[in-house]
Order: sequence, then C-alpha cells, then structure tokens
Amino acid sequence: MQKILFVCLGNICRSPLAEGILLHLKEKHKLNLEIDSAGTSHYHIGEAPDKRTIANAKKNGVDLSFLRARQFNVNDFDAFDKIYVMDKSNLTNVVALAKNQTHKNKVSLFLNEVYPNTNLEVPDPYYGTEKDFEDVFQLVYKASELFIKQF
Ligand code: 4NP
Repeated sequence: MQKILFVCLGNICRSPLAEGILLHLKEKHKLNLEIDSAGTSHYHIGEAPDKRTIANAKKNGVDLSFLRARQFNVNDFDAFDKIYVMDKSNLTNVVALAKNQTHKNKVSLFLNEVYPNTNLEVPDPYYGTEKDFEDVFQLVYKASELFIKQF
C-alpha cells in the first residue's frame, strides 16, 4: 500500500483539500492507498479546514469537515512513501528538514507528478475570493483524477 502525504503551509486549505479528494476517489475506486496531510507551519494545529474550503468542497460533493490540521514533522519522512507539496516555498521548507537523500527523494511538487516538469504550483486561495477556492478545487480534483490512474 502506498502511503501519501500532502503538504501546504497551513494545512487548512490546499493539502486537506487534496487529502479529502483522494479519500473520496479512494472510496469510489476502491484504491489501496493511505492518505494524510500536514502543514509546514504551526498556525492552525488542531483546527478544521478553512470554512470556505469546506463549503466549496461540499458543494462539489467532497466532505472535509472531519479533518484536523497538524504540523509536518521529520518522522513523516519515514512514515510516508511520497510527500507531495503544493508550492515551491513548501518544497524548500520540507526538503530543508530532510536528513538524507532518500528522504529528499520522497518530496516533490504535487502537480509535477501529473504534469511532469512544469513546476506548476497549487495557488494559495487563503487571501482570495470564492472563485479562487473553486479554481483550486477544480485544479486539485483534475490532478487527483490523473494521479489515481497509476494505482
Ligand atoms: P494553506 O493556506 O497553506 O493552503 O492551508 C493557508 C492557510 C493559512 C495561512 C496561509 C495559507 N495563514 O497564513 O494563516
């Protein structure tokens, strides 16, 4: 079973969205995956995802309300097979915590997995509009559908 961790800054918008969408697709397609998410910051530890992220995902048929934020920690390098980060700044921050090359090799931009070598980021909707939350949902949903084709 593949163990996959999604990482963003706050663990209240993008990475719990990816976690919830993958859990949704896992259920739908009966996939053998373990999925989790975390934030590089401590800002929102223990909190549910952002209300706007929850509401937008719900509108699109994905429940995120049961998720709770946690901070990324170095044990995650051993606990997961792959660590997908949402943007380049989180890529830098996670790689900086890696103690060896094996750990570093587990970390990559999520969108590079499905759109290779593009270095595309999942934009942070936190300071954005309702449309930004919808755009991020559609971006992550499409990428997740492409992503699960390998399983
Ligand atoms: P996320 O979005 O990294 O996608 O969860 C953010 C959430 C909170 C903050 C920044 C980004 N913040 O500064 O509190």
